[in-house]
Amino acid sequence: MEQETAIDPFSEARRGSGVLVARFGGETIPMILRHDAVRRVAKDWHTFSSDAPMRVPIPSEEAMRSVRQLPIEADPPLHSAVRDMLKPVFLRPVAPAYIARIDALVAELVDAATARPQIEIVREFALPLQSRALAHLLGLPEAEAEEWISWGTHVFHDGEDGAAKGAVLDRYIRNALAKAAGSDGDDFFAVLNRAELDGRRLNTDEMVGIANLTFAGGRDTVINAVSRIIAYFAANRPALDAIGSDAKRIAFAVEEFVRVISPLTHIGRVCPVPTEVGGHTVAADARVSLCWASANRDEAVFDRPGEVRLDRSPNPHLGFGSGIHTCLGAAQARTILRCLIRQLAARTGSITVLGEQRQYEDQRSYRRWVGYEALVVAMEGRT
Ligand code: HEM
Repeated sequence: MEQETAIDPFSEARRGSGVLVARFGGETIPMILRHDAVRRVAKDWHTFSSDAPMRVPIPSEEAMRSVRQLPIEADPPLHSAVRDMLKPVFLRPVAPAYIARIDALVAELVDAATARPQIEIVREFALPLQSRALAHLLGLPEAEAEEWISWGTHVFHDGEDGAAKGAVLDRYIRNALAKAAGSDGDDFFAVLNRAELDGRRLNTDEMVGIANLTFAGGRDTVINAVSRIIAYFAANRPALDAIGSDAKRIAFAVEEFVRVISPLTHIGRVCPVPTEVGGHTVAADARVSLCWASANRDEAVFDRPGEVRLDRSPNPHLGFGSGIHTCLGAAQARTILRCLIRQLAARTGSITVLGEQRQYEDQRSYRRWVGYEALVVAMEGRT
């Protein structure tokens, strides 16, 4: 049963009080577990605020960065102004020409994988895919992604020293912004240099904070989703063949994978004044957690939540969050995952897992399976 509790470690507390009072380092944080409560709290930014530099992620990231990430670590009106300014970049993935480019990128990676006897999916497939797709999103040459790939699967956590890794990212961003100053191009760093907020230019910390989130936010989440989808279809080939190239089935499948994988377990909010949460008093300036992973297994909303039903409908999952901070990179993530399924169906005849090492989120109060340290597969091309 170890396997099951690692997949949904919140079920008992969710069915009980609906809150898990968890420990993260020296901090006690009530995790809000039910779907309706998570949605309600996500809407109420006056009581549960995101205006908390470095403290929206749990555990917090004071050691890894010196700037507040935007727009995630802000409430309105700053949040809405930054989000509106970024929308044109983050909505690029809905354009058919963009989707065709990501399709071609995935096809190239799948063909390279089938040409080899075996491939390690996390570092040799998912990481390059995420990084090169990000280069497309940001309007930068694909070659720019090679440096990002060298940072590993997480900009802060893949390796020993999070602070040193954070400094590498910070230096890269400041350098890229400086190089793009005065440019009239439409790449991300040029856009940030020209961007205006309420009639003024962004200051350097704001530009760095936006770029920092852009590089950190969709990295391990996308990599884990890609790796787990490939592992799932290795074990369930008929499901992939049934989906084939059907755009609607592909879209439904991606939503179900985001629900069951829930790549981001949870996120924090800060209570500006003492607040009652599930019988627990949260002190002023202390945090609560909105647990997307638990909400996505809530049996009050999802019939047989433990089952993977690739045609599940409706599927009101909260994998991309809920409310004003709903994932700005969701269009990018969906495009990558849809292209992945389409190209796996079109270009592979079989996928065989040769070896795996699972990666768990190991906290004092729960242990949750999120993805793989390593996943070695043999991919056979379609004959
Ligand atoms: C499957 C992959 C992904 C998952 C599961 C995911 C999940 C989430 C969640 C749950 C939130 C809400 C945070 C909150 O309420 O505080 C969020 C916000 C955000 N995500 Fe993602 N994300 C993914 C991919 C991406 C990608 C690829 C990018 C960027 C390229 C990205 C950029 C962002 C940004 C900028 C925000 C903040 C939005 C705001 O504050 O208004 N995400 N994401």
